[in-house]
Amino acid sequence: MNQLAFVFHGAHGHKEHIARQVAEGARSAESAEVDLIKADDITRYANRLLRYDGFNLGSPTYLGGVSAPFKGSMDATGRLWRTQGPKGKFAAGFTVSSLPAATSHRR
Ligand SMILES: Cc1cc2nc3c(=O)[nH]c(=O)nc-3n(C[C@H](O)[C@H](O)[C@H](O)COP(=O)(O)O)c2cc1C
Repeated sequence: MNQLAFVFHGAHGHKEHIARQVAEGARSAESAEVDLIKADDITRYANRLLRYDGFNLGSPTYLGGVSAPFKGSMDATGRLWRTQGPKGKFAAGFTVSSLPAATSHRR
């Protein structure tokens, strides 16, 4: 049984919706146990990631990158990477973006 952590941040529930759908698929197809974790919780308790076999990370696209709260959770894992705690674990990611047509650049 694989233990997976789906870590996400989003202002309007899109990431949580996607995380729930993918988690449902992972639970049925891969006999995995999946915990949905808000990025803010990882910022406070990064060590809890080490108990998992893999991660699926979800952030909105803000200005071409991840959101500030999600980046904060990534930065909080610095010590884990330094000690190579996540080495060899499965990792995936997803985002939601929607640049309105009115803000597109035209040449
Ligand atoms: C501050 C901000 C910056 C954004 N930057 C981008 C961007 O660079 N590219 C893009 O395609 N969408 C961008 N968007 C649109 C968001 O990615 C999109 O609305 C997404 O669904 C937001 O997720 P959320 O509702 O969970 O915050 C931006 C939205 C905001 C609020």
